[in-house]
Amino acid sequence: MKRVKAVYPGSFDPLTNGHLDLIERGSKIFDELVVAVLGNPEKDPLFSVADRRKMLEAMTEQFDNVTVDTFDGLTVEYALRVGASAVLRGIRAISDYEYELQMALMNRKLQPGLETVFMMPAEKYSYLSSRLVREIAQLGGAIDCLVPPLVAQKLREKLDVAHKFADIDLGRERAGHETPEGKESERKTKPRKRKS
Ligand code: PNS
Repeated sequence: MKRVKAVYPGSFDPLTNGHLDLIERGSKIFDELVVAVLGNPEKDPLFSVADRRKMLEAMTEQFDNVTVDTFDGLTVEYALRVGASAVLRGIRAISDYEYELQMALMNRKLQPGLETVFMMPAEKYSYLSSRLVREIAQLGGAIDCLVPPLVAQKLREKLDVAHKFADIDLGRERAGHETPEGKESERKTKPRKRKS
């Protein structure tokens, strides 16, 4: 019988419970599933590709047929290289559909033999995204029910470091240090933490 290998490409910055839900569903219908982290140098990611890979590896070790990899360049070329015949993508809501359809059709144009398979994560994850998780974490909100415990811990560690730098800045502000933009104590807003 033909074995079907699929690639689940994405940014995973960071991995969320919605991604994990999709990985579990994908592992049930494909013989092999490769979760492939895109190393996109154009974006300003919160986590390095190596960190994202480590988190994914730790959180998917219970699935015998799931492996984690990283890639650069076109998804279709990567899929071809690893011998995959399908690309797995999640669709949470209608709003995802237009972009995902465009990408799937473009990937089909580039590589007609490669099929895109859409799966829906559990309803409770339909509003969950890495972008919102990053934003909530950066603003001090609770993220424990949105990401696996390991990811929550890594987010806290990362943002603690950012807070320490912000505290040093605030300390300087209280002391009334001058900056090229004027007196720090006269600035209306706190220094912004990094966006991702
Ligand atoms: O998790 P994301 O950011 O929604 O994943 C998007 C991803 C990685 C699947 C997409 O950006 C992608 O495939 N990038 C690789 C470059 C590529 O193949 N571009 C053409 C897509 S039609």
